[in-house]
This record gives sequence, structure tokens and C-alpha cells, in this order.
Amino acid sequence: MSDVSRKTHWERVYTTKGEREVSWFQENPVPSLELIGLAGLSIDASIIDIGGGASRLVDALTKRKIGKITVLDLSAVALDAARERLGDKGTDVKWVVADVTTWEPSQTYDLWHDRAAFHFLTDASGRSAYVGNLKKAVRPGGHVIIGTFALDGPERCSGLPIVRYDAGVLGAILGIEFDLMDSRRHDHTTPWGAVQRFQFSTFRRL
Ligand SMILES: C[S@@+](CC[C@H](N)C(=O)[O-])C[C@H]1O[C@@H](n2cnc3c(N)ncnc32)[C@H](O)[C@@H]1O
Repeated sequence: MSDVSRKTHWERVYTTKGEREVSWFQENPVPSLELIGLAGLSIDASIIDIGGGASRLVDALTKRKIGKITVLDLSAVALDAARERLGDKGTDVKWVVADVTTWEPSQTYDLWHDRAAFHFLTDASGRSAYVGNLKKAVRPGGHVIIGTFALDGPERCSGLPIVRYDAGVLGAILGIEFDLMDSRRHDHTTPWGAVQRFQFSTFRRL
């Protein structure tokens, strides 16, 4: 999928569907919060949510006063929705409209979080660009949490083909600079009651 059609797809999704009309909606992002908690971040740690969209993770992190948060997404519409929802509580959040594969990180982060964005990169070139940016952006000692559909999860998401993962395959893609710290499965229930099998893997950069 070209960068243009990818952006068009996501802007259309967030323009035409309400928050609870998308399969990935989570009222409370419990698995991500648990894993971010395990990373033992300091109060001023920098966190980036890759493909954060209109997710409520930023609300939960802001409420708990965890870190300085950046949310990156292809869709300006999604980020505007999150920004509006947060209102005054979101004044310290940085919002970045970019494709993670072509973005130029301008700082480093203590934690990289991605729930259901990486799995859309079905070409090796896109995955390689993603990992290149992850390596530029995550400081040594920093954590990487990647949630994707599991090997027995759905084959499509938002009508697009995806790649399913387990921790071993993700670890091989990230390379030897990253140690696997935690790997777990999570059954996500969509707003209409379907169950989607996810895996969440946490790595630490050496
Ligand atoms: C399935 S949604 C998940 C949204 C959010 N992470 C959550 O858990 O609610 C996938 C998100 O990834 C974003 N996305 C897809 N490909 C992307 C890319 N190459 N760069 C940045 N964002 C991307 C989409 O715009 C969308 O918001």
C-alpha cells in the first residue's frame, strides 16, 4: 500500500466512524498500562505511542502523571479527536501527524508503545524503515512494547491485510540489540463482542 493510500484509508476511517464503531476501541487500555507499569519509568520519562490514533492510552497516562507523552499517527483527524477529548489535561502532550516509516525522530524516548500499528506493515521495506526509526528513537536501556494480532488472531484489521506475530518473530525483526522482557497474550473484545487474539511483547534496548 502506498503512503498516500494508507493515509487516505485512515483519515476516512476516523472521519466516518465513531470511537466505538472501530474494532480496536478500548475504554481502558489495561494490557498496555500493565506493561508500561512494568517498565518502571521515572516521572519525567518520555513515551511515544506509535499509531496511537484516538486511543485512550494518552488519557490514562496523563491521569496517572506517567511521563511526557508523544502520540504519533498518520491521521490528523484521529489525533484531533484525542486532543479535543483531553482538553486542558492534554496541554503537555505532543501530537505528531506522520507515517512512522518516513518520520524523522527529533528526540529519543524511554518507551516506545505500539498497539496494532506495526502489524499493518506487510512489506519488508516498511518494516525495515519502522525498525530503523525505532532504533533512532529508543535510547539504550529504553523499552519497546509492540502489540499485534497473535499467530491465531485475525488476518485483517480495519479491512486491511496484516501480519500476525509472536515474540520470537518480533525479536528476530528487532535484532540482537533488544532483549525480550515479557511476552503475553490478550483477548481483545471489540465493541460488538467479537474476540481478537493479540500478543504483546516487551523488549529492552541494550
Ligand atoms: C488499529 S488502529 C490502533 C489505534 C491505537 N493504537 C489503539 O490502540 O487504539 C491503527 C492505527 O495506526 C495508525 N497507522 C497505521 N499505519 C501507520 C503508519 N505507517 N504510521 C503511523 N500511523 C499508522 C492508524 O492511523 C491507526 O490510528
